[in-house]
Amino acid sequence: MLKVTQDPAVISFGGGLPAAELFPVEDVSAAQDRVMKTRGAAALQYSVTDGIPELRTWVAERLRTHQGLEVDGDDVVITGGSQQGLDLYARVFLDPGDVVALENPSYLGAIQAFDAFEPSYLAIESDASGMIPAALAAALERAAPLPKFLYIVPNYENPTGNTLVAERRPQIVDICARYGVPILEDDPYGEIAFDGPPPPALLSHGAKGAVTYLGTGSKMVAPGLRVAWMVIPDHDLRDKIVTAKQGADLHSCSYAQYVFHAYVEDEPRLAAHLARVRAAYKLRRDAMIDALQREMPSHVHWNAPAGGMFLWATVGAGIDTEELFERAVRDAVVFVPGRPFYPSRDRGDGMRLNFSAMPEERIAEGIRRLARAVREQDATQP
Ligand SMILES: Cc1ncc(COP(=O)(O)O)c(C=O)c1O
Repeated sequence: MLKVTQDPAVISFGGGLPAAELFPVEDVSAAQDRVMKTRGAAALQYSVTDGIPELRTWVAERLRTHQGLEVDGDDVVITGGSQQGLDLYARVFLDPGDVVALENPSYLGAIQAFDAFEPSYLAIESDASGMIPAALAAALERAAPLPKFLYIVPNYENPTGNTLVAERRPQIVDICARYGVPILEDDPYGEIAFDGPPPPALLSHGAKGAVTYLGTGSKMVAPGLRVAWMVIPDHDLRDKIVTAKQGADLHSCSYAQYVFHAYVEDEPRLAAHLARVRAAYKLRRDAMIDALQREMPSHVHWNAPAGGMFLWATVGAGIDTEELFERAVRDAVVFVPGRPFYPSRDRGDGMRLNFSAMPEERIAEGIRRLARAVREQDATQP
């Protein structure tokens, strides 16, 4: 797919890229100048494994003031992207043959990170309101062995764009507590909310240490900086994660941490930037939904995510989206077929459509092409 999308004629709903034209290039450049003038040597030196103290304090402060979470700087470990957080957590928890519980479908990058440790998966049924607590309870009741942890993306999930509704959050935390299953809450999109903030994090529910929370600067600012954070209230676990990280990379890039911090510490500037990103993505989501309504045959269905970067469409009519993909590529439009997001790869009728990376006109044209591919595929069905 990456090869195909190098071609500028191809319209890609496939990647998971933030809008590059919205990156705060000048402000990050100014932040970098300030860092080099005032903290140049520290930014170029080795640093502590858990992250520079001012950034850990900023993370804790932001989670306290924006989400009302009781987080202390000591709970925070800075990582090279949330992707590293997924890897470190799996390293600490998983041995071959262990079980991981997750949503169905789930984030492919997490499945890839976990796959390195050869677990099997307990896929918990999800619907438009997120993971279904009764399905989780039934699965844990039957599970032998129990999963080592539950992985969940509660806000504007990748791939579906769905959000776990407020009332299910404490239920899921309680069910996991009953079976002694820790939770890994991955929240890269919570700040990209179109209609007000999402419900309180799972981290706000249950006993201290029940939930480890991942946040990232990738969607708030820019993924190229690779600055993200783990909140690990269980300090025994935190120490294990820090030891695993020491073995992996000694510490995350000092320079990127200082520059990121120098950019985000100006709260009004960050707020203005996030407001621009949210407004632009909301327009793009609306453009995609308008085009889907205009162009698609009636057997295609989609959702309207309240934030993030993706929506999820199901084609029905017996169409497998991997076959549809082959046809769409020939028409110079791509998406991600749904099958790999299901750990057991047993459903082929879904597709993930990214709406953040392109202006509205391109989105409309891409959906026109995709609808043509669907109609052509319809014509080949028995
Ligand atoms: C659900 C989810 N988790 C983690 C990541 C990784 O993000 P990062 O850039 O912080 O490594 C992504 C990126 O798309 C994601 O969608």
